[in-house]
Amino acid sequence: MPLVSTKDMLLDAQRKGYAIGAFNANNLEMAQGIVRAAELEEAPVIVQVSQGGAEHAGVEEMAAIVQVLAKKTRIPVALHLDHGVDFVYNLRCLRAGFTSLMYDGSQLSFDENARITREVVRAAHAVNVPVEAELGMVPRDPHSITPEELKKYMTTPEEAKRFVELTKVDALAVAVGSMHKMKVKQAVLDIERIKAIRQAVSVPLVLHGASGVPDEAVQAAIEAGISKINVHTQLAKSFTEKIREILTQDLNVVDIRKYLHQAREALMEEVRAKIRLFGASGHASGISPFDETMIEPEEYVKQEIVE
Ligand code: CO
Ligand code: CO
Repeated sequence: MPLVSTKDMLLDAQRKGYAIGAFNANNLEMAQGIVRAAELEEAPVIVQVSQGGAEHAGVEEMAAIVQVLAKKTRIPVALHLDHGVDFVYNLRCLRAGFTSLMYDGSQLSFDENARITREVVRAAHAVNVPVEAELGMVPRDPHSITPEELKKYMTTPEEAKRFVELTKVDALAVAVGSMHKMKVKQAVLDIERIKAIRQAVSVPLVLHGASGVPDEAVQAAIEAGISKINVHTQLAKSFTEKIREILTQDLNVVDIRKYLHQAREALMEEVRAKIRLFGASGHASGISPFDETMIEPEEYVKQEIVE
């Protein structure tokens, strides 16, 4: 089927108490491995491309790849921009056919973050594309951070409530103890904080940096109210480790298919395990196709003026 938006997916997950896996793809083989894994698990899936990933592989190129993969499968696939730190990059992805955006203003002040997030939401909602934003900060370098700093960056329920009201975002990435780029599962999540934020806001909550979170904590986070979980580092790790293994075993390999094929398989197994852990297996049905005309543009403009 055509790409779907993340809106229905996340609401379905929120209602039924599981989480949608959002997996980063930086090339064709990663995207294929992710969609194939979801197919085998009969699960809805989000293929996401970070701004950095899109700078590597190309915005339009990745959009074309994921659009074709979605069209060829019966499970719902959404194409999401992960960590779009620039306003204009969000617009570029919107135009390229992404069915979900993330504006990441977590490095900015609350007010600046809210202001630009609101602008991205206005543009995206005009064509019915949902937007995720980040409040608080999920650190990018796990080595240079102290436990006190990590705590300082965490999202508070009060701020989350105000932020969602101001920006009208569709999903909120929260800082609750995880960190990006963790190669070992050592992050300690603040489960009570997740529960409190879930009480304060109605939009689906997103957990970033899940590669560094132990499985039991991931499940507790879902129970506490997380509906989307981002995984990148762990996929990159399984993909690269497989290639390294093959290349060290046979120094004469030159045919790239030999190692990319197996790397794709390794990544696929990793994605399947995550989908199962998130409870998303078997939830492919019941998510409706994307309809960009659902909001009448004129009606939307009127709504905006009234605000
Ligand atoms: Co992230
Ligand atoms: Co289930």
